[in-house]
This record gives sequence, structure tokens and C-alpha cells, in this order.
Amino acid sequence: KKVVLAYSGGLDTSVILKWLCEKGFEVIAFVADVGQKDDLQFIKEKALKTGATKVYIEDLRREFVTDFIFVALMANAIYEGRYLLGTSLARPLIAKKQVEIAHKENAQYVAHGATGKGNDQVRFELTYAALAPHLKVISPWKDPEFLETFKGRTDLINYAKSKGIQIKASVEKPYSEDENLMHISHEAGKLEDPLYTPDESVFSRTVSPKDAPDEETLLQIHFKDGIPTKVVNLKDGTSKEDPLELFEYLNEIGSKNGVGRVDMVENRFIGIKSRGIYETPGATILWIAHRDLEGIAMDKEVMHLRDMLSVKFSELIYNGFWYSPEMDFLLAAFKKSQEAIDGYVIVSIYKGNVTPVARFSPTSLYDQALSSMDVEGGFNALDSKGFINIHSIRLKAHNLVLKQKDPF
Ligand code: ARG
Ligand code: SIN
Repeated sequence: KKVVLAYSGGLDTSVILKWLCEKGFEVIAFVADVGQKDDLQFIKEKALKTGATKVYIEDLRREFVTDFIFVALMANAIYEGRYLLGTSLARPLIAKKQVEIAHKENAQYVAHGATGKGNDQVRFELTYAALAPHLKVISPWKDPEFLETFKGRTDLINYAKSKGIQIKASVEKPYSEDENLMHISHEAGKLEDPLYTPDESVFSRTVSPKDAPDEETLLQIHFKDGIPTKVVNLKDGTSKEDPLELFEYLNEIGSKNGVGRVDMVENRFIGIKSRGIYETPGATILWIAHRDLEGIAMDKEVMHLRDMLSVKFSELIYNGFWYSPEMDFLLAAFKKSQEAIDGYVIVSIYKGNVTPVARFSPTSLYDQALSSMDVEGGFNALDSKGFINIHSIRLKAHNLVLKQKDPF
């Protein structure tokens, strides 16, 4: 019996690794490098020491940027108006690679360490189902036997100690974090109290806007077909074109300037409310710049339709339906919507704020003469009379009916 386990090196997945070994599985550990700042070599050794027969470390960072982050950007995806979906976007990629390894290794099982109350379990397992329905899924946090053995964190810690699994020497933070190239999330533990105000020790990706430099940074961000192609720092001339480098550079600038902090209560797919704190520096800059360029280059009706679909799209990403027929359908539409989103935006970055200050597009739909308040520019203002009259017909009729129904 062979299983490929999505392994992070943390307490939960280390205990799960050992537990699977003791149940007679040959365990292959899969460590996805999605840009988390962990010592992957150390994690590899830890997996082997804990009993894995083989460890895969896969660098997924580039694919994460081009095939997930930049795709979500096409629709300015945002969940419940605030969350840029950093964790939600990485899960399908991790699960996809895990399935590929299972095929290569001829494993019949895949396993993950997400809890039974969260979103991540759904994202992992829907991806497995969509891409490799024949694989059997082991989800210990939904396994009665596992739950019987491990009733809480102390059980995990005691088990780890008795099996010689190394537990982090540094005091673990009293809440749960998920980190990748796009963001870091903090939730659970002491953050569960929505009244608890996080102190600076919670944040690790961004400085507080209060401590950010008292100096504006101007970035010129170029797009082609809605995809970022170049970032230029207008002060020092730094220029990045490679997607991964470009995104990392935006993270660096955003991080230094306190960009992208969000503290919110969100609705999980399963219906539970959850308080989450996010730091998403680079993507926040990109999202704001991209939408600004759409302002000048995108047709009005296309934009309004796309924006309606974007709410659904964001929900699909959040809920784990990256690989689904409705997603393919939406992506085809979003791609179409981006075919003239070319040009650049200049954004000012200052103490947590990202403010577009100028934009240019070779495919601009903006007509300065037509938009001007001072110039007539081929537009006959008298036409607006009829335009308003026609729109009034319905409102007048409605008003009449209301009066007849209730004259007072
Ligand atoms: N609430 C966010 C989401 O559902 C973040 C989840 C973080 N996951 C974790 N295992 N800590 O996407
Ligand atoms: C988990 O439950 O494993 C983390 C939180 C989530 O998936 O929503």
C-alpha cells in the first residue's frame, strides 16, 4: 500500500506521516514549494527521519504565478469583497502535483492534513476527484480511528515526542498560518476572538503602515492582454519582466510599504464563520493597477458583465472548484475580456496605500474630447434630452400606479 502525503513539516503532517507508516503504508512525502519561507532541505530530512521512503520537493512557484495568480487577476478575483484568495489559489496546484506524483509512483492513495472543519480539505479532495477519481483519499482528520487516538494538540505532541519526531524548538505561534508566494494567512487560536486586536507580532510579511517609509514609491506596471509584463520603479529604474521576479519584486515593495493587510470575518464553504488575517502585498498592488487599466481599455458592458461573473468566479476558487466545467466556461469568457487590456498604469505606493495616478493604453477607449466637460466634441447635448425622456416613461408610470393605490 503506497500513499503520497502532502507534507509541510509541521506537527500535524509529521504525526500523520508516522501514523500512516504504523498502519502499514509506504509513505511518499510531497513538499510543495509554493514560496513559503521554510527550510525545505530540513523538512525533507525530517520526513525521511519520520519514516517516509521518498521525498519529493517540487518548485511550483512559477506555475503558481502564471497559471493561478495571473489567471485570478484577469477577473480581479476577490472573496466577499476583501480576501484575495492566496490559500485558495495554491491548493488546486498542490493537489494537482500530488496526483501526478501518485501516478508516477503507482500509489493508490493520496493523503492530506487539512482539518474536517475547513475549506482546504474540500479544495484538496475536489481536485483529487476531478483529476484522478480512482485514487483513494486518506483524510486523517475525518478518520474515526485517528480522531479517537488524537483528541487534541497535547495528544499530537505526546505522540510526536514518543516517536522521536522533532517539535519546533521555537515556541509555535498560538494560531494557524498558511504561507505562499501570494500571501500569509493567520487564523484560529487566539485570533478566533473577533474582538482581539492583533499586535505587530502577528504580522510577518508587511511592516505596519505606521512604520513604513515617509516617502512615496512610484511604479509603472505594464500589461498585455491583462497579464503583467513589466514593472518599472520610476525612482531607481529597477525593471522586472520575468513573471516570478516581477511578482517577487512587487511583494518586496508592498511589504516595505505596509501594503495588503486585511483583517476580516469570512464565510467558509461549509457555513462556519471564520476570522482571518491576511498579508498580500504584491497581489494587492497588481489588483489595483489592473483594474485601473481596465477603466480606460475595457468596454463598459463587458466590464459590468465580467464583474458579475467575478463574484461567482471568486466563490468557485474559494470553494475548491478550480477544476470544474463551470470554471472552464468562465475562464474562456475572462480571457476574451482581456484581449485589449494593454498598456501601463503608474501607481503611487505610500504607507499602506496603493493609488493609481496615471494610465496609458494603446487600445484605449477613452476619448478626451468626448469625455470633456469643456469641449462639445461631436456629441450633441440635445440628444440627452430624448435619452432621459425615454428612461422616464417607466418611472412616471410607476409613480402613477403608486398614487392610485394609496392616494395619501
Ligand atoms: N481562510 C483562508 C481560506 O480558506 C485561509 C486558510 C488557511 N489554511 C490553513 N491551513 N491555515 O482560504
Ligand atoms: C484547516 O481547517 O485545515 C485550515 C483552515 C481551512 O481550511 O479553512
